[in-house]
Amino acid sequence: MQLRISGVAVGGDGLAREPSGRVVFVEGGLPGERVAAELVAERRDHARAVAVDVLDASPSRVVPPCPFVAAGCGGCGWQHVAPGAQVALKAEVVADALRRLGGVADPVVEAGPPLPAAGARTTLRGVADGEGRFALRRRRSHDLVPVPGCLVAHPLVAEVLREGAFPPGAEVTVRAGAATGERLVVVDGPGGAPVDAGDVAVPAGVRVVTGAELAAGRRAWLHEEVAGVRFRVSARSFFQSGPAAAGALVDAVAAAAGVGEGDRLADLYGGVGLFATTVGRRARVQLVEASASAVADARVNLRGLDARVVRSDVARWHPRRTDVVVADPPRAGLGHAGVRVVAATRARRVVLVSCDAGALGRDVRLLAEAGYEPVASTLVDAFPHTPHVEVVTRFDRRR
Ligand SMILES: C[S@@+](CC[C@H](N)C(=O)[O-])C[C@H]1O[C@@H](n2cnc3c(N)ncnc32)[C@H](O)[C@@H]1O
Repeated sequence: MQLRISGVAVGGDGLAREPSGRVVFVEGGLPGERVAAELVAERRDHARAVAVDVLDASPSRVVPPCPFVAAGCGGCGWQHVAPGAQVALKAEVVADALRRLGGVADPVVEAGPPLPAAGARTTLRGVADGEGRFALRRRRSHDLVPVPGCLVAHPLVAEVLREGAFPPGAEVTVRAGAATGERLVVVDGPGGAPVDAGDVAVPAGVRVVTGAELAAGRRAWLHEEVAGVRFRVSARSFFQSGPAAAGALVDAVAAAAGVGEGDRLADLYGGVGLFATTVGRRARVQLVEASASAVADARVNLRGLDARVVRSDVARWHPRRTDVVVADPPRAGLGHAGVRVVAATRARRVVLVSCDAGALGRDVRLLAEAGYEPVASTLVDAFPHTPHVEVVTRFDRRR
């Protein structure tokens, strides 16, 4: 079928309508384009299709710069979008989610600073193919495409992709500290099966650890630096996509939070302490985090600060009176349980870091119902060449 793409959906697909009015999500279609598309799934109220030919191309369309896209690699979804246009499209997706799901009549979405479009990702997860090469999934498939190079990977990570050899089927996570040069590979056997670290070959100096060893209590970490702070990051602890993106997020959160000397700050879903150690430097901090390894890192990273690290599910945490909340939940967002806790802090200001536009829209509506008005959002382009977003939104408590 031929379709005219009118917009872009959460997740990055183009949006079109069939003559019947049914919405079609079109993978590979950009706003303004006319495409020939093949249906891949049909529901009563919407369908999914893939653009197989572009009949009228958007001026934002480019030839994917990474050669592995042509080989079928599904690691990045937006290599066909010019880097400059990606941010504008993401801002459109976020504004649309704020309007439609969040009920914000006139959303303010500002773009954060430009970030490197290549060579910045310091963590990459993949699977070893039948020949033991690092590989990523093919688009819309479980098949693997070996990627001995990767446009978005930091050079320290890219070298491991190029030179590493792993047990076939193993899940492989490659991590690097860009500032320190430290590197770590975590290997999990296929489907949780045991795997021998001795069967892994990596460049000199790269530490290898298996999932089973970590589960048995072995500790492995690297160090990274952001905003002048050195972080210990354990093998299983979350860290942002790279130090430049982490620095941009710290700046956006600091500007939105307006934390004053001696303020009480709750850093919810605080990870290894990225915001507590920077935005909360002059504050009295409570960091709440569920992961044992991130909590152990945060306790090290927050040494010397007026800070307490609480290992807890945020939903089960009993809030104390707080001046400012920073909340950075996983993809599902705060949801009812998280919003209940945020609201119970009675903080004057909440800064929400969202990695999913749909979840952001839903959280905005819930927070507004709980008395928090969204003021403005900043889009930090932490995942160039993909439709993924990171959005920092400031809320003020209604009087
Ligand atoms: C998106 S990361 C943000 C971490 C940190 N703010 C940062 O920027 O590095 C979300 C964090 O929330 C933690 N987490 C996930 N679900 C949680 C929950 N229900 N309660 C507390 N922490 C949770 C994860 O372990 C992870 O460290």
